[in-house]
Parts: sequence; structure tokens; C-alpha cells
Amino acid sequence: MSEAWWRGAAIYQVYLRSFADGNGDGIGDLAGLRTRLPYLAELGVDAIWLNPWYPSPMADGGYDVADYRAIDPAFGTLAEAEAYIAEAHALGIRTIIDIVPNHGSDQQDWFVEALAAGPGSAARGRFIFRPGRGPAGELPPNDWQSIFNGPAWTQVADGEWYLHLFAPEQPDFNWRNPEVVEEFHAILRFWLDRGVDGIRIDSAAVLFKDLDSVEESYTDHDEVHEVYRGWRRITDSYEGRFLVGEMWMPDQERFALYLRPDEMHTAFNFDFLSRPWNADELRASIDLTLATHVPIGAPPTWVLSNHDVTRPVTKYGRPDTSFSHQDRKHGMPTDLVLGERRARAAALLAMALPGGLYVYQGEELGLPEVEDLPDELLQDPIFTRSAGADRGRDGCRVPLPWSGQETPFGFGAGTPWLPQPTDWKNLTAESQQADQNSMLALYRNALKIRRTHLGDGSLTWLDSPPGILTFTRDSGLTSITNLTPNPIDLPPHIELLLTSAPLDNAQLPSDTTAWIR
Ligand code: NOJ
Repeated sequence: MSEAWWRGAAIYQVYLRSFADGNGDGIGDLAGLRTRLPYLAELGVDAIWLNPWYPSPMADGGYDVADYRAIDPAFGTLAEAEAYIAEAHALGIRTIIDIVPNHGSDQQDWFVEALAAGPGSAARGRFIFRPGRGPAGELPPNDWQSIFNGPAWTQVADGEWYLHLFAPEQPDFNWRNPEVVEEFHAILRFWLDRGVDGIRIDSAAVLFKDLDSVEESYTDHDEVHEVYRGWRRITDSYEGRFLVGEMWMPDQERFALYLRPDEMHTAFNFDFLSRPWNADELRASIDLTLATHVPIGAPPTWVLSNHDVTRPVTKYGRPDTSFSHQDRKHGMPTDLVLGERRARAAALLAMALPGGLYVYQGEELGLPEVEDLPDELLQDPIFTRSAGADRGRDGCRVPLPWSGQETPFGFGAGTPWLPQPTDWKNLTAESQQADQNSMLALYRNALKIRRTHLGDGSLTWLDSPPGILTFTRDSGLTSITNLTPNPIDLPPHIELLLTSAPLDNAQLPSDTTAWIR
């Protein structure tokens, strides 16, 4: 593969805690992942992105990092991580890790030191500490709200307040402090030296804050670009490595600034997954994405799900098929048969588009969102911080079903940290392996074709009636998605490569994608 292998790669997201448990404690780990590497090789992915694997009190599923240079004991050891990277490489699978620059954990040495050192100290200067307002400093420095609900400031014993855009256990770093800049350069080198092939940058747009602003003012300040220019220089000093940024930003022109040739190589495209199942909407998203990426030479990415959003099978079965963090539509009725049908069609559509692809674990099994987890088991800080108004993201993080008829479905020997629905016996990897019509079979077949005919490059739209998306790729593969309620004729072709659902009298049924040549 070329140095720019990432331009068209299919990348599989492993949420380690829920992937496979090797030691029987109910929590997925590196030992479990290592035993399942052949499954991922057979699925046909080019790389694995792992959510944070560092020591963490897990106030936010590991996005509260206590030590950026080690592995959480629940997941394994640094030696095991190195062994995993090597074993994956031997199977042709690269590794992308998650770096969290906006905030650390309140248990991290730097923060513990900052608390002890007191107001005005250099140790506090690494974070965003401020005196409070009001006669006795009893009010927070401003009225900003945290992204996870509730105030964005917490007061410490000596009266000062610190900023946390997320949970109180996740204090924000001060990116105007050169020590912070240097520290993250060293962390990047630490992992690049250990052979990781890519870096996913968490909450990449929010590092700089304008605290004097009444409105929350932290997204997309111009200063942030200099940070990623520094990261790019480091990443490019190693061969074949790349950056992928996580930015939720409505303005695609501003989004594209992060992908200039001296900044990030790629970024997650969330516009596509937020759109409803509607041909005009999806076409608009594809055109917008291409229009902002192509001129700067950055490959787009296509994402249908991740550990923060509603599972596609559930989302696409609802009367409202859009996604938004503001309202996750938890409990809105869903038709899972319809949802699965559309999720299959969406998968082939996304896989046919030019650029990179992300597949979140369980997406290839067609897992639905689990919406009936008992309150007392929910772990997402969004649930408690919203006083239950938002049930959070645990429903897409339930441990995978691998095999067998009963829970824990081969996940491991122990009781999984979140319970799996008993009807997942029909969704195990094992049962789907044996079924040529399963979601797993579709993903395998599609990824195989994608490897030779799709990925990086460009597309040409072909004329088609309203409600139908038809385009051709450089390889000659044509993808057609029918979002109308009625079957349609396929254009003339010499070969039918794959369909997301069986044809109906040689016609392409509603909510179906076909790949033809
Ligand atoms: C984005 C991550 O994907 C999400 O899971 C996390 O809660 C926030 N960033 C904060 O780190």
C-alpha cells in the first residue's frame, strides 16, 4: 500500500470496553481484541481505531485520561498494546489511537499538582483556573454551561474555579501555555515511536476559549490551527502516518480549514450521518462534502455510526430519521425491519463514495440501539448531568454478541458491564457467518469489492429521477440507491456486483442499493 493508504481506507472502530473480554471481568480488553483480530482481517478492514485505552477513572468512558503514556489495567499493559500493534500489522491491519487534547482527568498528576500548588502557581497555569464572581467569589467566573449539561465550572477548596467543557472530572487544559503544547508533542512522539499509524484527535475544535464572552465561546477559534500545524509536522516526520480530527461543526467552509495541506490529513464527516434518509438531503450532503474537500486535496470520510450516536438500524427505522445530539429521540418508536433495510442500503452507499470509511463495531452485525437499559446501570455522565432528561450514549456501547444462544454470547467469561438483550442470539457474529443474507455477509462482500473498485478518487453523478442516487466511480462501478417507495429499473449493465436486498423481478426495490458494472 502507498504512503497515503489512509486516503481510501476502511477503518473499524473498536470500543475496547465492549469488543471482547479476554480475562473474564466483564470488560473488553486487549487480550480479547487480540483473539478477534482474525475476524477483523476476514471482515476486510485496513485499520482499527481504538477509543482511549489509557489509565482513567472512566468518568467519561476513558475520555478522562489520567496518564497519556500507559494503558488502563482493565484493558491490559503497555507491553500487550505493543504486541497487539505488531500482531495487527502482521495481518495487514494498521492502528489509530485516540488522543484527547482538550481535557485530562482530575486524577492526572498535573491536576493533582495544580490543586496542591494553589492559586497563581505555574501548575494551575496548565489548566483554566479563575477566581469566582460575587462578593465572596461564590459565583462561577462566567455562566457557561458544559456540553454534558450543568455548569462548566467547578469550585475547589481554596475558592478558585476551573473550567470543564465536559464533566467536572475532565478539567480543560490551557492551550495558551507552551508547556501544554510541548507535552502533547511528546505524547504524539511516544505513540508514533510505538508504531501507531494514525491519531484520532478528540474534540479538536474547542481548545481555545474566550472567557470574557457571555455566550459559550470555544468552538473554532483561529488559534487552534497553529496547534494542528505542529501536530502535522510531527506526524509527517514518520512514514505513512495520519491525523483524523473530530469536529462537530455546522459550517463546512470552516470545517475544511482544518484540512488544509499543513494541518490534519482527514476529519470525520458528521454531516452525512446527521441527515435524514432522504435522497435530496443525502445528495446535498455528498455534494457539500465533496465541494469542501476536493479543492484542498483532502479525502472525505463517510461515517454511519460511532460510540456517540444512535445505531443506524434504530435511527433509520424511526419516523424522523435525522440525528442530533440535542435530541437523541430516545424511545421514539422504530421499525427495526425497515431500519435494517435502510441501514444496509446506506452502508453500500457510504462505501461507494470517494474517500475513507469508518465502521463502528457492531454496525457490521446490524445491532440496534439498546434503549431499555436500567437507570442504575447507565454510565454515561450525560444521563446524570441532565437529571435523566437525556439517557445518553450507553445504548450504542453494549458489549458485542459473538456466539452461542445465551448471554454473554461469547463476549467473555464474566457478566458484561452492560447487559445484552437476550434476542441478540440472532445477531451473533457466529450466526451471521453462516448466513449469506446477513448484515455481516453484506459488509464482508462489500468491503472486498470496495478494496479493488472504490475508496480514494472521484465520482460522476448520472442523471436519475427524483429519489434516486446514481453515480459512477473511476473504476467503472456504478452505485444506485433507490429512496423512492417503488421499484425501479436498473440502468444497462454487464454485471450486478452486489445489492443490499434481493432484486424484485430484476427491478431495484425501495430502500435498496445496487452496485453494477
Ligand atoms: C468526543 C468523544 O467521542 C466523546 O465520547 C467524549 O465524551 C467527548 N469527545 C469528550 O471527550
